[in-house]
Amino acid sequence: MADGAQWETVDRGWGRLAADFAALFEPANVREYAALHHLLAVSAGDRLLDVACGSGLAIELAGLRGAACAGLDASGRLVAIARDRSPDADIRVGDMAALPWPDERFDVVTSFRGIWATTPGALTEAHRVLRRGGRFGLTAWGHLKRSPGAWALAPLGLAEPPQVQHQSDMNQIGRPGRGEQLLAEAGFVEIERHELRMVWEFADPAHYVRAIGSSGPAYEAIQAVGRAEFETRALELAAARVRDGLPLRAEIHLAGFTARRPG
Ligand SMILES: C[S@@+](CC[C@H](N)C(=O)[O-])C[C@H]1O[C@@H](n2cnc3c(N)ncnc32)[C@H](O)[C@@H]1O
Repeated sequence: MADGAQWETVDRGWGRLAADFAALFEPANVREYAALHHLLAVSAGDRLLDVACGSGLAIELAGLRGAACAGLDASGRLVAIARDRSPDADIRVGDMAALPWPDERFDVVTSFRGIWATTPGALTEAHRVLRRGGRFGLTAWGHLKRSPGAWALAPLGLAEPPQVQHQSDMNQIGRPGRGEQLLAEAGFVEIERHELRMVWEFADPAHYVRAIGSSGPAYEAIQAVGRAEFETRALELAAARVRDGLPLRAEIHLAGFTARRPG
């Protein structure tokens, strides 16, 4: 996740297998999207912005609830899919630290694992484009070590040590008190933490390997160890968890936050 000029490089990792990501991986996040939309009571007439929207499944689902949607992501190839899914939405390529909308434009702003402890400028921007009293919702990784599905994220740790350290720095937003502090510093009030669950399901190990391999962090791991080693490690992890007649399942704790811009 990058602030500043670095955002223009994001598509190299996140966009290189955009169709795989959209069709094979993103649908596994659907429980997370439904849970946060429910907590925020997203409904007809809401003007909603999704920050770091990826290929836009969350936008499509918010649209089904009647919201008039906008979105932004740094990856042009993911944005192309988001626009294909929601042709009426205002979806743009850009940097979440410099949102191209005027002040107080939206009733609801969401971000699903898109804003991190390392990107506080994106929180300030989310606050700026919300109307007074508007609702904000954010998800981030929760307690990964306690998550039964932590194995599914393990191959991403094959990246070079500075990148693994950066992932850890980003994830600080989910730690007790840290996300609340960052939201308060950005000007939000009525900050509440919610324990959410991500439940990824994959038909078989090959589906899992193709899905996880399409993500941005996988690009960093593949650059470090090569595609063959990345895929071998991921296949081994998944093969050990195959269950007869059932999909592979990885349940991961998420930290969810809801808050408001002061009215
Ligand atoms: C973990 S993915 C989450 C994507 C989407 N919210 C989802 O639920 O699948 C992080 C997203 O952040 C985007 N991203 C990274 N840095 C960004 C930046 N500076 N501005 C906008 N988007 C960025 C990536 O392209 C990627 O789509």
